[in-house]
Amino acid sequence: MLAPEPKPITRSPHNEPRPVPSRLPVRLRINGADYTLHVEPWVTLLDLLREQLDLTGTKKGCDHGQCGACTILADGRRINACLALAVAYDQADITTVEGLARLAGDGHALHPLQQAFIECDAFQCGYCTPGQLCSAAGLMNETPPRNVPEIRERMSGNLCRCGAYPQIVEAVSRVVLNGRARDEGARQTENADETAAIPAGATPSSATPEQTP
Ligand code: FES
Ligand code: FES
Repeated sequence: MLAPEPKPITRSPHNEPRPVPSRLPVRLRINGADYTLHVEPWVTLLDLLREQLDLTGTKKGCDHGQCGACTILADGRRINACLALAVAYDQADITTVEGLARLAGDGHALHPLQQAFIECDAFQCGYCTPGQLCSAAGLMNETPPRNVPEIRERMSGNLCRCGAYPQIVEAVSRVVLNGRARDEGARQTENADETAAIPAGATPSSATPEQTP
């Protein structure tokens, strides 16, 4: 038996199918600059940033919300840009890694998190680093973590294929804990198995960053 014809989703008062607009207007403030854009309804913030605005600091790893490489801030909250449709963020204030320094001052000096990542040697290939930085910046806007294990748990959505977790946690702890419980936790981190920072069911190899420019 043949399946019934699918019904059109939207219809006019005269029962005619409504044309779906190919592009919709979106106003965004990105790293302090205002943009009025016209984008297809299916375009993600990640593709908008990388492909249309040339803001390639935000990385595409899994493109499925699994690795955290695409983490950005939307109105101060960390989100996975690969899962966020641009049209759903009309009027949002977006910060990417390119605008992180601006959050901490006039943009001429590094954000304290960026400085801490350098001092702690908290990256190897650097592919996950923009997402790690934005995630940590978002963490600072949330209920403050009390200790290192809590930082590790709340940063567990950001995978690092290179396994730089101990240094990443040390860098984030320096800034976020600001001395509180850091020394004890840092020692724990140095001695801990690196895989402890990986969420259950995930392995570093589950993030397969695509080598994009
Ligand atoms: S690219 Fe978005 S979570 Fe992996
Ligand atoms: S530094 Fe290479 S993936 Fe994290």
